[in-house]
Amino acid sequence: MTNQEAHQQQAKRIQQYYAFQSRIYDLTRWSFLFGRSAILNELPYEYEEPFHLLEVGCGTGHNLVRAKRLFAEVKLTGMDVSADMLAKAKSRFSASQEVVFLEQPYGDNCYTWTGKLDAILFSYALTMINPQWETLIHQAYKDLRPGGYIAVVDFHDSPWPFFKKHMAGHHVKMDSHLLPVLKDNFYPIKKEVRNAYFGIWKYLLFIGKKV
Ligand SMILES: C[S@@+](CC[C@H](N)C(=O)[O-])C[C@H]1O[C@@H](n2cnc3c(N)ncnc32)[C@H](O)[C@@H]1O
Repeated sequence: MTNQEAHQQQAKRIQQYYAFQSRIYDLTRWSFLFGRSAILNELPYEYEEPFHLLEVGCGTGHNLVRAKRLFAEVKLTGMDVSADMLAKAKSRFSASQEVVFLEQPYGDNCYTWTGKLDAILFSYALTMINPQWETLIHQAYKDLRPGGYIAVVDFHDSPWPFFKKHMAGHHVKMDSHLLPVLKDNFYPIKKEVRNAYFGIWKYLLFIGKKV
């Protein structure tokens, strides 16, 4: 199987999963996708500073809406493989807000951003992008300008095998695998692992600078 075929297969699995999940996503995810507000609050940009933020796996647009509130001059691009999720995201913005939405998988070198983006956000996306998650971190490195930031909030690990198995059924891999690769590629500005529900699982907050 070629890399491109593997990307397409991953995208197809996710599209099928979100065909239904997109309907209940915003009603349910607030109760377990922790740290999404915190990661945007920690992005080292000022309120009126213009910068270009790409969110990979923007889903229903929860973070894009918040980013618009936090950063008056931000230029936003949201990318996702699920048309169902993107439809929800698009409905949250008016045409005058000029958010660009791209329906495609990230990580196959077909962008024009090389060395240009100021920030790339992965919010609960990388642990679902298997086995390509490491390729995506390298792609983000290429797409960021020197001095730009990668921001990641995601599941980290769990001491409970039953919970990890349950999450694997929802396409999520949680094996403490993101942090070492993020630290190898980016200079950490923020690096924190937090407990959720008294330690049933841990989640990761990481902001790294491209140096
Ligand atoms: C758990 S949701 C997170 C959505 C949003 N970032 C949030 O924090 O609410 C994961 C999202 O990643 C998207 N996704 C999965 N694989 C992807 C890929 N290869 N490229 C881009 N998006 C992808 C899914 O369609 C889904 O919308």
